[in-house]
Amino acid sequence: MRSPNFRMFLLTRKLNKNVVFIIGGIGVVYVVLKFFDNFLKANEEVQLSLDNMRTKRILYYNPPSWFSDFDFGHCRYSSCVISTNMSYLPESDAVIFNHNQLSSVPPIKTPNQKWIFTCSESPYYGKKTSSEPEWRHKFDWVMSFRRDSEFFFGYGDIVPKTRFIEKNYEKIFEQKKKLVAWIASHCDTQSKREQYVHEMSKIEKVDVFGSCGNLKCEKYTGSENDSCHDFVGKNYKFYLAFENSLCRDYTSEKFYNVYAFDHPIIPVVLGSFTLENYSHGAVYIDVNKYRTPLHLTRRLLSLGNDKEAYIDLLRKKDRFSALTSPQTFRTAMCKMCEYLSLDKPGRSDLDIADWFYGQDHCRSPKQIHKPVTRNSINMKEAQKYLNKV
Ligand SMILES: *[C@@H]1O[C@H](CO)[C@@H](O)[C@H](O)[C@H]1NC(C)=O
Ligand SMILES: *[C@@H]1O[C@H](CO)[C@@H](O)[C@H](O)[C@H]1NC(C)=O
Ligand SMILES: *[C@@H]1O[C@H](CO)[C@@H](O)[C@H](O)[C@H]1NC(C)=O
Repeated sequence: MRSPNFRMFLLTRKLNKNVVFIIGGIGVVYVVLKFFDNFLKANEEVQLSLDNMRTKRILYYNPPSWFSDFDFGHCRYSSCVISTNMSYLPESDAVIFNHNQLSSVPPIKTPNQKWIFTCSESPYYGKKTSSEPEWRHKFDWVMSFRRDSEFFFGYGDIVPKTRFIEKNYEKIFEQKKKLVAWIASHCDTQSKREQYVHEMSKIEKVDVFGSCGNLKCEKYTGSENDSCHDFVGKNYKFYLAFENSLCRDYTSEKFYNVYAFDHPIIPVVLGSFTLENYSHGAVYIDVNKYRTPLHLTRRLLSLGNDKEAYIDLLRKKDRFSALTSPQTFRTAMCKMCEYLSLDKPGRSDLDIADWFYGQDHCRSPKQIHKPVTRNSINMKEAQKYLNKV
């Protein structure tokens, strides 16, 4: 015989079973519905972002020899691919045109395609086909050393150091037995830098390495972090970072590499008249600030003979480093992918003939430095000064 208590227990268990079953059933239905709801919502979002993030196709129409490929994988917006295969021209979202080797008539531009003008040379050098009437209004964006380009791609960029390592500056100074060096291989330039150096050397010897002078470095590769620049950095107090042109924002690796490779030397700059606006406080001696080569050379002599002042400059210089050209290229390409992914509009009024090749973007050497003719140097005055230092 089962006790009433036991029957009661069975009854409750049956009831409990039903309740559990019903509640469980509702739960399962809820979970299933919720799942489908989320699934549908997620699907909508995927669809939406797929539209935005459809892989953008970039064509490098006439790439320079150093370009082979670019991997957007490390960019914040990474759904872009780049090709140099012209057969992709019609379906490309963007086309990059290097200023050199352009045909006289542009190819057909499809609607919504973005055309990007790129140039690494100063407006003085290289072909200017893009400023011809057939081309000049075709571009939407620019990738160049000009700071007002959509995609800044320069020879470098100054960055403040986050960590400052104290060096043995006394020792560095003692090793520097010579005052000033110039390394160059292009000796007839718009900036007339060769003339400026010539004027300087009437007062103080300028050691000229490369084909513009008669000194040879062990290894001189031009723009690299080579033993020639290393040698000059160790043995000289000043390095002439003289550009071939005096154009807006045009500053080459001559200046940036002194910072990028941490050469312990003070650069003397002849070049862009806008450098102050993007050098972020980095240390250099600006030729523009001196009336003549005589005045500049005097300044170098007095600084070079003042150990404390010179070391102070070096110490300040060491608070900065620089990005190299390939690093600025990567940033530029990533930004291009971002612009395409966000469907940013092109500039509607971009006229390359004015914007890049316009007269006011370069200065004549006469405006910047006044070449000192033999008559205009007071050699007596200079000699008197030299005898003092
Ligand atoms: C360019 O792309 C076309 C179409 O995909 C292909 O047939 C051709 O082989 C490619 N050319 C080169 C040089 O890769
Ligand atoms: C550049 O020179 C510095 C100093 O000699 C050296 O430490 C560095 O590794 C060099 N960098 C390259 C890329 O050669
Ligand atoms: C530097 O930038 C300021 C503000 O944009 C501008 O007014 C000034 O003319 C610039 N200086 C040079 C040398 O371009």
